[in-house]
Formats: sequence, C-alpha cells, structure tokens
Amino acid sequence: MIGAGQLARMSVAPAQALGIGLRILAASDDESAAQVARDVRIGSHDDMAAVVAAAEGVAVVTFDHEHVPPAILRELRAHGVAVRPDPAALAHAQDKVTLRRALAAIDVPQPDWIVASAASDVSTFGDSHRWPVVMKLSRGGYDGRGVWVMDDIEAVTALMATVALVPGAEWLVEEFVPFERELAAQVARSPHGQAVAYPIVQTTQVNGICVEVIAPAPDLSPADAAAAQQLALRIAGEFGVTGMLAVELFQATDGRVLVNELAMRPHNSGHWTIDGAVTSQFENHLRAVLDLPLGSPHATSRYAVMVNVLGGDHPDLYAAFKHVMARDPGLHVHLYGKVVRPGRKVGHVTVVGNDLEDLLERARHAAGYLTGTITE
Ligand SMILES: Nc1ncnc2c1ncn2[C@@H]1O[C@H](COP(=O)(O)OP(=O)(O)OP(=O)(O)O)[C@@H](O)[C@H]1O
Ligand SMILES: [Mg+2]
Repeated sequence: MIGAGQLARMSVAPAQALGIGLRILAASDDESAAQVARDVRIGSHDDMAAVVAAAEGVAVVTFDHEHVPPAILRELRAHGVAVRPDPAALAHAQDKVTLRRALAAIDVPQPDWIVASAASDVSTFGDSHRWPVVMKLSRGGYDGRGVWVMDDIEAVTALMATVALVPGAEWLVEEFVPFERELAAQVARSPHGQAVAYPIVQTTQVNGICVEVIAPAPDLSPADAAAAQQLALRIAGEFGVTGMLAVELFQATDGRVLVNELAMRPHNSGHWTIDGAVTSQFENHLRAVLDLPLGSPHATSRYAVMVNVLGGDHPDLYAAFKHVMARDPGLHVHLYGKVVRPGRKVGHVTVVGNDLEDLLERARHAAGYLTGTITE
C-alpha cells in the first residue's frame, strides 16, 4: 500500500487477521501506518525509484491516497506489477475535471460545471447560474483544501491571482448545490467483477472535513437507498474500479441526488464499518484488490455513529482516554498515532445500537472530550 496515513494503519489489522502480508510505503517511519506495520519501506509516493523498489516482489499495489503520479503508476505496470485500482480508473479520483467529463459521458447526475481559464469564465458561469459558485483545483486537494466558495467576481479574481496551478491542474467551477445533506455510497469491486454495496450513509462536512457519519442515513427511503447503491455499482463497473469505491453525494433540496466526487480506497465515510458491519471497508479493500471473494457489507446493528476526533488545543489525546472509556464502555476508540494539530484528523470514535439520539450524544461527547472542546 502506497501511503502510510490512517487508512493504511487501519488496513493492518484485517491484513493480519487474514494472514496477508501488507507492505507499506511510508514517507517517514513515524507516519501513522509505519508505526504499526512490520514491513515498511521509506520513500516518497512521487519518487519513481522508491515506488518501484517498494513494489518489488508484491502481488498487488494499492493506495492509501490518490496522489501517486500517473507516470509512476504506468511505470509499475510496465514492470509487470498489478496496480489496483488500475491507473485509468484511478484517474477519476485523481482529477476532478476528468471525473466531471466521465460522469457526463455516462449520464450520471452531477452539479453543473465548467473549466475556467480566466476570471471572466467564472463570472459568466456565476451570472448565468447563481452566486455563490464553488471553485476547485482539479487535482491535489483533500479535506477541503483546494475548494473555495466564491461570492462574487472580486473574490474570484483575488483567488486566481494568489493560488498557483500545479502543472496539469485546472480550475473547476461548479454550481453551489443547495443540499439537504450529504450522503456517501460505498461499494467494493474485485477484478473478476464481484461487487458488494454497503448501506448508504449520511456524512457531515465542516470546512470541507468529514466530521460525522450516520449509518444508515436516517429517513432515506428504501427506494432512494437502493438507487444510490445501484449508482455506485454502476460507476464502479463503468470505470473499472477495483477495491473500495466511495461516491460522495449531495441530496439537493429539490430532491436530486448528485455526485460530488469519488475516492478509490477506504474512505472516512466507511470507518463505521470496523465496528458496525460484518466486514470492514479495510478488509474488503484488501479482499477486492487481491481478487478474493468479498465479505458481507451488512450492518450488524440498527445504527452506527462515527465522529472524527480532530486535533484541538491539547497535544496529549491520552489525557482524556480514561474518562471517555469510563463514561461509556460501549464506545470504540480509534487513535491514529498522529501528532495533534488543530483541525487535523487524529482519530475517530464509533458507537452502535438502536437509539440514534443516544448514539449521537455519546459519540459527539467522546470525540469532543478527546479533542478538548468538551471538558465535563
Ligand atoms: N458544488 C458544491 N456545492 C456545495 N457544496 C460543495 C460543492 N462542492 C463541494 N462542496 C462542499 O465542500 C466539501 C469538500 O468538497 P470536495 O469533496 O470536492 O473536496 P475535497 O477537498 O476533495 O474533499 P475530500 O477530503 O473528500 O477529498 C464537500 O463535502 C461539500 O461539503
Ligand atoms: Mg470530498
């Protein structure tokens, strides 16, 4: 697995359980996954030689993030290494403009969009749709970095003057979707075409960062849930995805369900599956990229609530450990071994059960207590 963040770290336990060797390419030996994996190579994901060397002797290369340059992926393929997802599929998660074009070609509902080369393009788009508009860097962003909501042309001009486009990147402009809520659909798909769909979840993003997930999405009709699962399965098939696919969705106030973006790896919207599903997203990602039969995606209780632990003012997360555990023996705590920085994802908590209000209170309290925003 290229990349050693929390997604790679959470892949270690299922690899161990299945008896699968998992090698991690980490940028440094103190990265989240490098702390817990036995087979770690140190090198950068954008260093061709480091990636090729790390891949030597493995059955399959897969990813903790989508930032490996396509040229390196092609080089791996040229060395006879199986890359999953395939570079052509992964392109849809690496580049938001590539994704918008490809979704349009297969008639998948999405926000209206254009590629802008000048501020005047954005102003024409904003005037013909409505302000604000959303501007995104086509590649390189994550957790809301590379996404800006623009109220007027002055703001657009200032943004385009200050943010330099990395080579190959473009400005994607989207209508600002007035949404009721955000949803996510997750499926696992294997090279031989087996696929499973997880329950549709509701996600909450604050400042572009996922903070809370409820599985399944409350009050989503069975027909709408099935349609969203079918949509994700169709996208996985059309784009030839192998491994986990997350489809981030907007449920617009007018009822439309629109695709925001894709991730082809385990995703924050599926962390609940460790404690709330028969087979976690991390295990099914491994099974899928290795072309093993997939595990059941079914939930093991009525609801699961996952709340991210974001870094706060306290550098020591363990100061709150005892309290959250003692207060709630049903709480599942996951910390990523990352240095605390304000707003950084450093862990998550999950609770499962029948009473959604109770689960939300418990998970929010525990996450807030670990962060330090709740003190009693
Ligand atoms: N067109 C839009 N209309 C309204 N809100 C939007 C739009 N695009 C993005 N957002 C908001 O910004 C968030 C981040 O956007 P997006 O998922 O495109 O960015 P990202 O930084 O690539 O995120 P990720 O961390 O998921 O990779 C979305 O989850 C949503 O809350
Ligand atoms: Mg996103």
